[in-house]
Amino acid sequence: MNLHQDTCMVLFDQETIAKRVAELGRQITRDYQGKNLLMICTLRGASVFFCDLIRHIDLPLKIDFIATSSYGCSTTTSGEVRMIKDTSESVKGKDVVIVEDIIDSGLTLSFLKKMFEAREAASVKVCTMLDKPEGRKVDFKGDYVGFEVPNAFVVGYGLDYAEKYRNLPDVCVLDPKIYS
Ligand code: IMP
Repeated sequence: MNLHQDTCMVLFDQETIAKRVAELGRQITRDYQGKNLLMICTLRGASVFFCDLIRHIDLPLKIDFIATSSYGCSTTTSGEVRMIKDTSESVKGKDVVIVEDIIDSGLTLSFLKKMFEAREAASVKVCTMLDKPEGRKVDFKGDYVGFEVPNAFVVGYGLDYAEKYRNLPDVCVLDPKIYS
């Protein structure tokens, strides 16, 4: 059994991803000089991206983790964002960068961004590895975006389907026969 056999196309291989993550890290390093940077990872999908990204940011920073759920074992959002785990520390006065695996409907990130703004973060920006613009249900734009993806269900580099495929090193399109 090999994980790639359930996928139908590699969209971004590990070398391409590594280069782009390093670029995003350099961009954040330039933009956050002298700021009170707090990087918040959205569990579990962004965990792989997050660990790579923070090691390309050459600045003092803090990290925290948050978990939400809107998908369960489906390939489409339920439309309702549930908070499963909140941050451990207060975001008040911090320059927050939310790190996400993918923006699809935009519901999760618009919910989180509003929540951190209401908690008086000094600033709130979003860094996402992938962006699926055709999936939007609400208007939302990431501040730092790794790659755009087509309207297909993708897995790998932290992204799952029913908790599988997170350990694939490449971002791949999942074969529709797996979920149809
Ligand atoms: P949104 O609230 O619809 O923008 O969804 C964001 C979350 O949905 C992401 O953090 C992922 O967990 C999940 N998601 C959306 N599209 C995909 C996909 O193609 N593959 C895996 N997870 C996805």
